[in-house]
Amino acid sequence: MEKKNLDWANLSFSYMKTDKRFVANYRNGAWDDGQLTDDDKVVITECAGVLQYSQSCFEGLKAYTTEDGHVVCFRPDLNGQRMEDSCRRLEMPVFPTERFVDAVVETVKANLAWVPPYGSGATLYIRPYMFGSSAVIGVKPAEEYQFRILVTPVGPYFKGGAKPIVIRVSDFDRAAPHGTGHIKAGLNYAMSLHPIMDAHRQGYAENMYLDPATRTKVEETGGANFIFITKDGILVTPKSESILPSITRRSLLYVAEHYLGMKVEEREVPLAEVPSFAEVGLCGTAAVISPVGKIVNHDQEICVPSGMDNMGPVLTKLYDTLTGIQMGRIEAPEGWIKRIA
Ligand code: PLP
Ligand code: COI
Repeated sequence: MEKKNLDWANLSFSYMKTDKRFVANYRNGAWDDGQLTDDDKVVITECAGVLQYSQSCFEGLKAYTTEDGHVVCFRPDLNGQRMEDSCRRLEMPVFPTERFVDAVVETVKANLAWVPPYGSGATLYIRPYMFGSSAVIGVKPAEEYQFRILVTPVGPYFKGGAKPIVIRVSDFDRAAPHGTGHIKAGLNYAMSLHPIMDAHRQGYAENMYLDPATRTKVEETGGANFIFITKDGILVTPKSESILPSITRRSLLYVAEHYLGMKVEEREVPLAEVPSFAEVGLCGTAAVISPVGKIVNHDQEICVPSGMDNMGPVLTKLYDTLTGIQMGRIEAPEGWIKRIA
């Protein structure tokens, strides 16, 4: 199969229309079989639930070309389960995990020419999403839904790839206590657009959000969880009911403990503790592991000891091990890698 003629090494994290996408429709209380289509346009009523009351959720995962030339994706069952959780919280019909995984495989298979080659630094980003497609005018869930999967080749989420970024502590919250921070609802991202643009205008790559109830504990950024490395080499990651349960973070905890013999702690992280950490990183599907070099909290500057030039040594080990597993250089734990081609 011939690959598309793209400048793989210089892709940004942006959308590019690929050949095929998956579409399934929910009507009269059931999902149809779904199918691949060439048509990238969505036609829905002007009064669709998604347009009026933002009834939508999504997922994000990646397909990789491995060292030995296969195409795989990473723990798609966990994305399927998380989407089920999102749907339940938003009163949307669940698209069952098993069908979700099959549809991911089918969509990637239909777009193999777009999967970046091994070693290019790029990956195929897979975006499953669902929205209320039938008309609602009173505040209530739609009766009909569309589930779709699009794929697009991407490069690094943060410009500069593995260069440490500067972030700020946000005065805005990303989630309410007992709200929707723990699911992947489109509305969480809509409300983050002003804080992120405001951060960018002031020269920051991202926001560090604090817990919305007390504003004293670290939560996450707009699109990634935090991992911290203590001076003793312990991996610490925030535990909170209002952050997204990142699949990358859950995987890194396992990798740290079982591959690298590190101690790991999932617990509350007071903002006041942040200056004591040796390394700070963001982790997620899009972010992979992105090092943080500086955190600005109004007039306080927290300079992370690992500095502004490179990723610190412990995050580098974690990064190499995780991406080694994803690209087939390191043996994966049972069930983590789904072979597609
Ligand atoms: N936190 C938020 C708010 C996100 O949008 C994402 C991306 O999906 C993550 C964390 C990282 O999650 P994952 O590792 O499952 O991609
Ligand atoms: C992902 O990492 O897949 C996300 O959905 C995060 C988003 C900021 C692109």
